[in-house]
Amino acid sequence: MESCKYPNILKPLRIGNTVFRNRMFSAPTGLYDLTPDRAPTDDYIAYYERKAKGGCASINIGECNIDNEGVGSPNSYEIPNLSEHKFNKEALGKLANAISRNGAVATIELQKTGRIASDTPGQMKLLSPSDGFHPYDSRVKCRAMTEEEILATVDAYASAAEYAKGRGFGMVMVHAGHGWLLHQFHCPKSNRRTDKWGGNPENRCRFTVAVVDEIHRRCGRNFPVEVRISGSEAFEGGYGIEEGVEIAKQLDGHADIIHVSCGNLFSPGTDYHTHPGIFQEEGMNVKYAAEIKKHVKQSYVATIGGLSDLDVLEEIVASGKADIVEMARGLICDPDLPRKASSGREKEARKCLRCFKCVGQDYQDGRLFCAINPASGKEREAARPPRPLSLKKVLIAGGGVAGMEAAITAREIGHEVILCERAPSWAAFCAASGRCPSRSGSESTSSGRNTCWRSWGWRCASIPPSPRSCAGS
Ligand SMILES: Cc1cc2nc3c(=O)[nH]c(=O)nc-3n(C[C@H](O)[C@H](O)[C@H](O)COP(=O)(O)O)c2cc1C
Ligand code: SF4
Repeated sequence: MESCKYPNILKPLRIGNTVFRNRMFSAPTGLYDLTPDRAPTDDYIAYYERKAKGGCASINIGECNIDNEGVGSPNSYEIPNLSEHKFNKEALGKLANAISRNGAVATIELQKTGRIASDTPGQMKLLSPSDGFHPYDSRVKCRAMTEEEILATVDAYASAAEYAKGRGFGMVMVHAGHGWLLHQFHCPKSNRRTDKWGGNPENRCRFTVAVVDEIHRRCGRNFPVEVRISGSEAFEGGYGIEEGVEIAKQLDGHADIIHVSCGNLFSPGTDYHTHPGIFQEEGMNVKYAAEIKKHVKQSYVATIGGLSDLDVLEEIVASGKADIVEMARGLICDPDLPRKASSGREKEARKCLRCFKCVGQDYQDGRLFCAINPASGKEREAARPPRPLSLKKVLIAGGGVAGMEAAITAREIGHEVILCERAPSWAAFCAASGRCPSRSGSESTSSGRNTCWRSWGWRCASIPPSPRSCAGS
């Protein structure tokens, strides 16, 4: 470790026989860029491999249905049906290997949708903790699960985990937050049962605890199980942190890691708590993990939500608010963040704008696109930049994000670069977002690129708006 500026987030963590090389985990970012057989494509695999090379300790490949019943929708961005061996066996093994051979623990998120499975009447069996209706469509009924169905689902989670372990995954995450089936059981509003699966927190969490225990029984106590919960539902009428603490207490000692997210995506407005946007403060959900950490004695606690500033991450772990810091978008826009932290290159870190372009693109075509990381989703192309036959002098008009990246890429492969920019600073939009009060005066996201600039002796000159004016070189 060359730099000791971040001793807490760089400290390894051991769970059973698994060593996590630091405390920075890559949170689930499920894509639906799948082959016609619905297995991950080579581009999909390259995206996760690139992340592993960046140095984070663990990489979660996103949601995966544990069985055939109640998948999200025809456009579900999950790798569907983990237990459908013939499609996924080889590709999932390749994916896990691409992550683990680069030093990160490969992990997969196991989930079942329950009462929000589909809004098409009669298409699917909408299983729910209690009788009721689909939250989006009051014409669609869902019915309470029988005890037999609950036990069969526990078994399906454990079979999926066993299957993932067999493909080379070193951990699983059980999704019990954001409004999916297990969360529906945790939540007193959707779980109105009067048997041993409903009522007090112990009963409402019995299903999740049974899933975790069964995974450990089948995969071994040393096989780490992380559970994602919503520490608060963050909406009027939903549960708050007091209930989040009760849920965490039930999971303490069963789950190896309690991952504290926020929100219930099926209630209006909470999406901005689950995926904090540009106008929300950095680490707005850390308070939920910090409160839970005070009550949890045996499990590690992870936090998530709008994090990508290394100093903030270090403070969270140093002050004991959480043991692990997780990032989804922070590692899309800069997969090398952990490596930069460990090699004294923190000034080159590229902070996420929280602009949501990645999420929108994922829903649109299942591929990843980042507003400030042009290599994201194109890792295979970016890994092999074309070698020029002859070196040229390249003129780039405009020092926005695209212009800066084009200039850096051209320079890295040997061309001489002239970049023209009319504004007095590079990437003016990003610089402005860095000054947004909700970002706590944090450095602009363009600072990482400005650092490259400065190290090459380049500067941004304020130049009059003339087509012939140039800066840099
Ligand atoms: C492209 C993308 C895909 C995501 N896919 C999943 C997923 O499959 N499962 C899940 O639980 N959360 C998913 N999330 C949510 C993230 O895991 C995370 O909770 C959320 O983005 C907040 O963290 P962040 O601010 O670090 O991005 C996804 C987020 C993004 C940006
Ligand atoms: S597209 Fe925007 S929100 Fe997504 S990772 Fe890139 S900068 Fe962050």
